[in-house]
Amino acid sequence: MWKKIFGSADAYKEIPKRDDPLFAPIEWEKLPRHVAVIMDGNGRWAKGQGLIRTAGHKAGVKTLKGILSTAIGLGLDALTVYAFSTENWKRPTTEVDFLMKLFAEYLEKELQEMHDDNVRIRFLGKKEGMPKSLQRQMSDAERLMANNTGIHFNVAANYGGQDELLRVMQRVAAQAAAGSLKQEEVDAELVESLLDTAGDPPVDLMIRTSGDQRLSNFLLWQSAYAEFYFTDKNWPEFTPADFVAAMTDFAHRDRRFGGLNKK
Ligand code: IPE
Ligand code: IPE
Ligand code: MG
Repeated sequence: MWKKIFGSADAYKEIPKRDDPLFAPIEWEKLPRHVAVIMDGNGRWAKGQGLIRTAGHKAGVKTLKGILSTAIGLGLDALTVYAFSTENWKRPTTEVDFLMKLFAEYLEKELQEMHDDNVRIRFLGKKEGMPKSLQRQMSDAERLMANNTGIHFNVAANYGGQDELLRVMQRVAAQAAAGSLKQEEVDAELVESLLDTAGDPPVDLMIRTSGDQRLSNFLLWQSAYAEFYFTDKNWPEFTPADFVAAMTDFAHRDRRFGGLNKK
């Protein structure tokens, strides 16, 4: 069934099972726990198709659905995707407005299915600044799925890594000023508990589509020891098989974390 619908307009409705041929190359004991994705190249893909940029964003939503299903099938602990950066406000209002509407539509359409799939959604970044009704939708979705025990699906919207760290610093400073925090109590554990990703493991694998090789202010703290995987494919044409290819590439990385390898 999974294969039959593969690539169709309603693609990836189902969560692939462990024995799905899609997962044949997977080394299950070497999977990352937390994968982050910079979903880049929607505009370039659209241009290549002779379409307007926003058509690329629409196509990108379909890709995301397939990748979330694949991540669930793989049993990843967390999937974090970059949907809108604090810098993306620099784009023309028409494109920004379109994206906000697209987020609202995505949430409305996918909410129940994600909930049924035991997904726990969380939004990283500042909700303030997003349209009011979208803020409400985001909070409602988080509340609805707060006790779900499946994949942690983080959607970074109005997110910037520097902004996140500044917010952490502001909270630390406020607690210190109030006398409830001593200087020596400020450690990595405290900072991590104040990040938008609190409770999630660090990013093991950072994927960026579309050929550019930069972080663009994504997960600065969390990706300190992440492995990077770049592909020239634009996000709308990135498939579950491509995601699996990133997993198998990751399985052969030699992660040393500053130490020496065991070989
Ligand atoms: C990524 O695609 C989506 C968002 C940033 C919202 P882009 O819109 O950045 O596409 P390119 O990079 O211009 O091709
Ligand atoms: C990063 O892509 C942000 C998202 C994918 C949401 P951009 O297209 O905004 O990044 P730059 O401008 O190329 O660095
Ligand atoms: Mg881009």
